[in-house]
Amino acid sequence: MCGIVGYVGEKEATPVLINSLKKLEYRGYDSAGIAVINSVADSDESIIVRKCKGAIKFLEEKIENELVRNAINGNVGIGHTRWATHGEPSDLNAHPHTNVSGTIAIVHNGIIENYAELKAWLQAKGVVFKSQTDTEVIAHLLNYFYTQEDSPSKGDIFKSVQCARQKLVGSYALGVICKDYPDRLICVRKESPLIVGLGQNENFIASDVPAVLEYTRDVLFLEQDEMAVLYCDHVDSYNGDGEKIIRKSFHVDWDLSSAEKGGYAHFMLKEIFEQPKALHDTLAAHIKDGGLTFSQEINPEEFNSMIHNAKRIVITACGTAYHAGMVGKYTFEKFARIPTVVDVASEFRYRDPILDKNDVFIVVSQSGETADTLAALRLAKSKGAKIIAITNCVGSTVSRESDYVIYTLAGPEIAVASTKAYTTQLMCLYMLAIQFGFIRGEIDKDEYRKVLDALQAVSKKAQTILDNQTEIQKFASMQFNKEKIFYIGRQFDSANSLESALKLKEVSYMHCEAFAAGELKHGPIALVDKNTLVIAIATEEALYEKLISNIIEVKSRGAATMVITNDDTGIFNESCDSVISIPKTDFYLESMLSVIPAQLFAYYCSVSRGNDPDKPRNLAKSVTVE
Ligand code: G6P
Repeated sequence: MCGIVGYVGEKEATPVLINSLKKLEYRGYDSAGIAVINSVADSDESIIVRKCKGAIKFLEEKIENELVRNAINGNVGIGHTRWATHGEPSDLNAHPHTNVSGTIAIVHNGIIENYAELKAWLQAKGVVFKSQTDTEVIAHLLNYFYTQEDSPSKGDIFKSVQCARQKLVGSYALGVICKDYPDRLICVRKESPLIVGLGQNENFIASDVPAVLEYTRDVLFLEQDEMAVLYCDHVDSYNGDGEKIIRKSFHVDWDLSSAEKGGYAHFMLKEIFEQPKALHDTLAAHIKDGGLTFSQEINPEEFNSMIHNAKRIVITACGTAYHAGMVGKYTFEKFARIPTVVDVASEFRYRDPILDKNDVFIVVSQSGETADTLAALRLAKSKGAKIIAITNCVGSTVSRESDYVIYTLAGPEIAVASTKAYTTQLMCLYMLAIQFGFIRGEIDKDEYRKVLDALQAVSKKAQTILDNQTEIQKFASMQFNKEKIFYIGRQFDSANSLESALKLKEVSYMHCEAFAAGELKHGPIALVDKNTLVIAIATEEALYEKLISNIIEVKSRGAATMVITNDDTGIFNESCDSVISIPKTDFYLESMLSVIPAQLFAYYCSVSRGNDPDKPRNLAKSVTVE
């Protein structure tokens, strides 16, 4: 949902901004732009703005000649990569936006809900707007407070930002530069994420950590309503009332290579292949003395007492994380025998949910910044539920606002389509479920140990699937033109089917749906014809036969069929055109494995269809607007 960056330092700002923006392209790629305070004193252009429709590479091409001629000079600047909300993707709607005289420039991630009202107010004062965006009102509003004779903030850009934000309704992470303040960059956040990177004689802002990793790993996570002013040699932080505060910096362990493609054609493929390590690291970080331990910051007695008292588990998330929650329901009910409900965050928050202090509310979010997930978390908290977060991002808003945080150690996930975050979220849900089961006496020590051993073996098994990926690649090369694809499965496999179908939709744009296999006959089978491919996920031996019946039903209606299965007896050979084998695991841990061939299938279909799997159309990785 748009990425913003900013730089203040000794280097030329433009190359740094472009470089950082590339790391945020997963947040949007409808248009890109930069603005730099011109360090050439007698130039007509006090702030140089360059922007254009399309991905960052088009912006780079646009400014290439100027960069070669050293014609964009300046050490303070801001940049933006856009996922369009208000106004179509176009050069004019691209950020940065400026005031009329071009002396103040801003970049924005979020949505200004009252922009129409503000726009009318400014237009009545004679302001002429250039774009259709909500963001442009902020630039003109700032100008108003900065230049108005009777304004208390006249000539003071910091105060002008404070005044302008009082008028804004909605969400924003803003980067602001002003020609009269050529030594600084101002930023402020409400709802939308924003971090400050702390370097040596240089400081940065960004919507997300990977944007600054090449320069620093020390970051400040701005809290709700906070502001910061960045200079070359220091950063001042302020709370929402404008009072100076001291903020603790975090050291981020992610290294740069984890945010680079490392020889893979796409981030998506690289991240699929990183799953064995991510699964291993996520589990290893939580194992101590033969048992599970959740975090140094979690008080085990408090945690266990919450587990004892839990009457119900409520899991809430969006997108892929929601599908992880769907699998989580099965794991909690199986291992801990606690009634578990799963809800899409955007639905949960609007239906006056029934929750109390004995409910354990689990939010799952890779980014830890998804707007609907955060709103659901806050609602659950207000009702007294205990909150456990499963997230990949240290310091994210979700992690800061939850009672307990369990981290997936997947490393930065750059591709828009989530892969390694999903399987590591599953790992965390399994870990939690068996911990709940053990503490509540639903599973004994022996079984607990056995499940832990099985969990430890998952990473190697995931590697085996990846080592044998040619079969799935071949199958994708034959099926990528199918008109309709259906995933079917039962129990855990039905939940995993939803995620498998989502992957395919996201990156291949093929029409794909997932059904609980038993539901096929109740309607969906009417869609099946010879242009249909049905992919069954079959990992529960006791249900193989039932699934085979479903496969035969669709096959006899002309569908091509594939199965992803842990069967090693050949039971599916007759009913399926292709059989993708995955290793067996115990205790229903198969979900972490059976999704991997589906991810690969989605990836190879996408590539075969000429798409860019890392940047699927219309999607953004982090949905920080509602
Ligand atoms: C977007 C992304 C999905 C992701 C979902 C939830 O839709 O494209 O890949 O699953 O948001 O994101 P979160 O960061 O909360 O897991």
